[in-house]
Amino acid sequence: MQLNRTLRVVLVMGAAAGLLAAVVPERRYDQETNEGALWRMGELCTVEGEFFSGSGKCVNCHAPDPNGHALVDENGVTVSPVFDWQASMMANSARDPFWRAQVAREGLINPGHRDEIENTCTACHAPQGFHEARLTGGDAHYTMEDLLADDLGLDGVGCTGCHTIDNIGLAGRFNGDLPINPEQVAWGGFENPWDGLMSGQTGFIPAYGEHFRASEVCTSCHSLYSHTQDLAGESTGNVFFEQATYLEWVNSDFNAEGVQCQTCHMPLVAGGAIAATQPNWLFEQRFGRHHFVGGNTFMLKLMKDNAAALGLSATPTQYDSTIARTLRGLQQATATLNVQQLPAPTGEVAFEVEVVNQIGHKFPSGYPARLAFLEFALRTASGDTLFHSGRWTEAEGIVGRDLPYEPHHEVITSPSEVQIYEFAFADVAGEETTILERAATVLKDNRLPPRGFRTSHAAYDTVAIGPAASLDADFNRSAEGAEGTGADRVMYRVAVGDYRGTVEVAVRLHYQSVPKRWVSALLAASEEHPDIAAFRDMYEGADRTPVVVAEAAASGWTDFVAEGGAWTLVPNPVAPGSRVRVQPGDAREVLSGALFDASGRRCAELTPQDLLGGFDAGRWVAEGAFLVRIETAEGPQVVRGVVVRP
Ligand code: HEC
Ligand code: HEC
Ligand code: HEC
Ligand code: HEC
Ligand code: HEC
Repeated sequence: MQLNRTLRVVLVMGAAAGLLAAVVPERRYDQETNEGALWRMGELCTVEGEFFSGSGKCVNCHAPDPNGHALVDENGVTVSPVFDWQASMMANSARDPFWRAQVAREGLINPGHRDEIENTCTACHAPQGFHEARLTGGDAHYTMEDLLADDLGLDGVGCTGCHTIDNIGLAGRFNGDLPINPEQVAWGGFENPWDGLMSGQTGFIPAYGEHFRASEVCTSCHSLYSHTQDLAGESTGNVFFEQATYLEWVNSDFNAEGVQCQTCHMPLVAGGAIAATQPNWLFEQRFGRHHFVGGNTFMLKLMKDNAAALGLSATPTQYDSTIARTLRGLQQATATLNVQQLPAPTGEVAFEVEVVNQIGHKFPSGYPARLAFLEFALRTASGDTLFHSGRWTEAEGIVGRDLPYEPHHEVITSPSEVQIYEFAFADVAGEETTILERAATVLKDNRLPPRGFRTSHAAYDTVAIGPAASLDADFNRSAEGAEGTGADRVMYRVAVGDYRGTVEVAVRLHYQSVPKRWVSALLAASEEHPDIAAFRDMYEGADRTPVVVAEAAASGWTDFVAEGGAWTLVPNPVAPGSRVRVQPGDAREVLSGALFDASGRRCAELTPQDLLGGFDAGRWVAEGAFLVRIETAEGPQVVRGVVVRP
C-alpha cells in the first residue's frame, strides 16, 4: 500500500517533468479515472518564485487520491481543490481569450499608455506573475509580453495567488491590490493544520486564517474601478466603478446574516474531508469545495472546445463538471419568476411578471457585458401567438432590442419592447461605449439588487441603481414602498383584438454572459490584433444560445375587466368542465369563498387560489344558477353565475 503510494507520487512528479508523455500516451486522455486527472495535473505550472509557486506544486498532496481515502466526501466523490479549481474561470483567467482580446483592444485605443493598461489588467487576471514582479522589484509594468513569457502568471488565479493573501485591511482594497504575505504562509479555513510535509516540500506553511472564511478575501479582485480617459486618451481624473460585486454584497441582508461569498461559491463538504493525500493518518477537517462557479457557461464551453489551442490543462470531463455546476447554480439558485393576471379594459389583457433575485449580489453582477432578459409569450387556447416580447434568434440576438441600449421598462405594450437587466455606460461625450477605460457615466443599471439592498446604505454610491430603474416604484420596493425586495415587477398590457376566451402565458428569464452586441465592436477590430482575431474565430464557432434561468406559466381570460364596486364572475355563463373565476372589485384582498347551488345548499369551500385562478362550477352544479359567497378584507359579497351546457 505504502509502496504503491510512493510509486504514484513518483509518477506524478515524472508527469510534471513531461517524462512519461511519450511512454504511456493512452493514459494521458483517460478522463474517467482519477489517474487521468492526476496525469494531466502534472502539466500545471511547477515554477517556484520567491513569493508564489505554480499550482502544479500542490498536486502531490491536494490532487484526487487514487486510493479514494483523502479529499473525498461521504459518497467517495473527490473534493480535491486542484481538481475542482482547474476548470474554473479563475484558474483560466490569464489564458481567457475574451480577456486577452479586450486587453488588446484597450491598448489599441489608448496606445499612449498601453503598458499601464496591461499592468492594470494583469493584476487580477494574472496575480501570481504580477505580484511576483512587483515584490521582486521588476519593471514598472507587468505587461502582456511579460505574462506570455511567465508560467507563474499564466497559472491564472492559482493556489498561491489566493492562499498568500494576508489579513491586512482587506475590506477596503480594490483593483487587485493584494497584501501578499512575504513569509510564504498558505492560510486556509481550518484550525491547527499539521505541517510535517507541506512546507518541506513546497516552502509554504499551512496555517489557519480566519479571513479565509470571510468575503473580504475576495474583495480586492471583485472590486474594480477604472480611471476615466477622454476620447483623446487623457485622464479626466475621475474614477468609474466597473465591478462592485463585493460592495453589492456588503449592501445586502446576506452580509448581515453572515452568508459569505464562500457559502455559495465554495460550499462546505458535509462532515468535512481529509485535506491532503499525505501523510495517510490525517482526519476530517472543515472543507470548502473550490467550485468558484458563476454564470459563465458560455466561456467555459468555448474554452473546453479550444483547450488545445489555448494551452489549457483541465480535461473535458473537468470542464463538463464545472459547466454542469454553473448551470445548476443559474437554474436552481439564481432567480425566481411569478406571473399573475390583472384586470384590463375590454380588448386587452394584462399580466404582471415578478422577477426575484435570490443571490448575494446584483443579478447579473461582475463584468459589465452580462445581462438577463425576460421573454413573454401570450397564446390563445388553441396555441396561436397573440404577443411575443423578448424573443431571441441567432441572427438578430434579442429581437426588438433598441440601440445603443434598451431602456428600462415598467410597462410593456409592444413586441419591440423587452425587459433587459443590464449595465450600460457612456464615455465623456455621452456616447454608449464598451471600452472600459472610457467609461464615464452610467446610462442604465437595472440589474436586480440583492435582498436587503438599500439606497441609504453607506456603500450605496458605488453600487447605485441606474437612472430609470431608481424611479420605478416597484423596483426593489414592496407594495408598501419598503426597500430591499431584490425584485422587479413588469406589467405586460396586450391588445387582443376580437379574440375572446382563455389565454396562456409563458415567461422565461434568460442569461447571457457574452452577448453579441457587447462584443460586436471588439470583433470588428479583429484585423488589428491577432488576439482579437483568435477570439473572433472561437466566438463565431460557439453556441451563443442564452441560458434559461427561470420559467413560469399562467392561464388567463379575456374580459377580465376592472369595473369597480362589486365583484363578478368570468366567464359567465360558463360550460361544465371550463373554469370560472372571480374578478376583483373594489376590495383588494379575497380571504375565502363558498359555492351554493340554486336551492341554497352549500356545495364547496373555495380557496383564494380557486377563486382567482379558476374552478369548475360544473363539478357541483350540473346546469343552472349558482352563487358564490366571497369573504373579502372589507366584508362579504355574493355573486351569481350560471352553468350552461354547450
Ligand atoms: C479588480 C480585478 C480586475 C482587474 C484589475 C481587471 N479585471 Fe477583468 N475581470 C475581473 C473579474 C472578477 C471578472 C469576472 C466577473 C464576472 O464573471 O462577471 C473579470 C472579467 C473580465 C472579462 C470577461 C471574461 C469572460 O470570460 O467573460 C474581460 C473581457 C475582462 N475582465 C477584461 C479586463 C481588462 C481589459 C482589464 C484591464 C483594463 C481587466 N479586465 C482588469 C477582475 C478584474
Ligand atoms: C507534501 C504534501 C503537501 C503539498 C505538496 C502541499 N500541501 Fe497543503 N497541506 C498538506 C497537509 C498535510 C495539510 C494539513 C492537513 C491537516 O492538518 O489535516 C495541508 C493543508 C493545507 C492548507 C489548509 C490550511 C488550513 O489551516 O486551513 C492549505 C490552504 C494548503 N495546504 C495549501 C497548499 C498549497 C497552496 C500547496 C501548493 C503550493 C500545498 N498546500 C501543497 C500537505 C501538502
Ligand atoms: C480564489 C481563491 C482561492 C484559490 C484560487 C484557491 N483557494 Fe484554497 N481556499 C480558499 C478559501 C477562501 C478557503 C477556505 C474555505 C473555507 O474553509 O471556508 C480555501 C481552503 C483551502 C484548503 C483547506 C480547506 C478549507 O476549507 O479550509 C486547502 C487544502 C486549499 N484551499 C488548497 C487549495 C489548492 C491546492 C488550490 C489550487 C489548486 C487552491 N486552494 C486554490 C481560496 C482559494
Ligand atoms: C487574485 C484575484 C482574485 C481573487 C482573490 C478572487 N477572484 Fe474570483 N475572479 C477573478 C478573476 C480575474 C475572474 C475572471 C476570470 C475570467 O473570466 O477570465 C474571477 C471570476 C470569478 C467568478 C466567476 C466565474 C464564472 O464562471 O462566472 C466567481 C464566481 C468568483 N470569481 C468567485 C470568487 C470568490 C468566491 C473569491 C473569494 C473566495 C474570489 N473569486 C477571489 C479574480 C479573483
Ligand atoms: C447567496 C449565494 C451567493 C452569494 C452570497 C454570493 N454569490 Fe456570487 N453568484 C451566486 C450565483 C448563484 C451566481 C450565478 C448567477 C450569476 O451569474 O449572476 C453568482 C455569480 C457570481 C459571479 C458572476 C457574475 C455574473 O453575473 O455573471 C461572480 C463574479 C460572483 N458571483 C462573485 C461573488 C462574490 C465575490 C461574492 C461575495 C462578495 C459572492 N459572489 C456572493 C451566488 C452567490
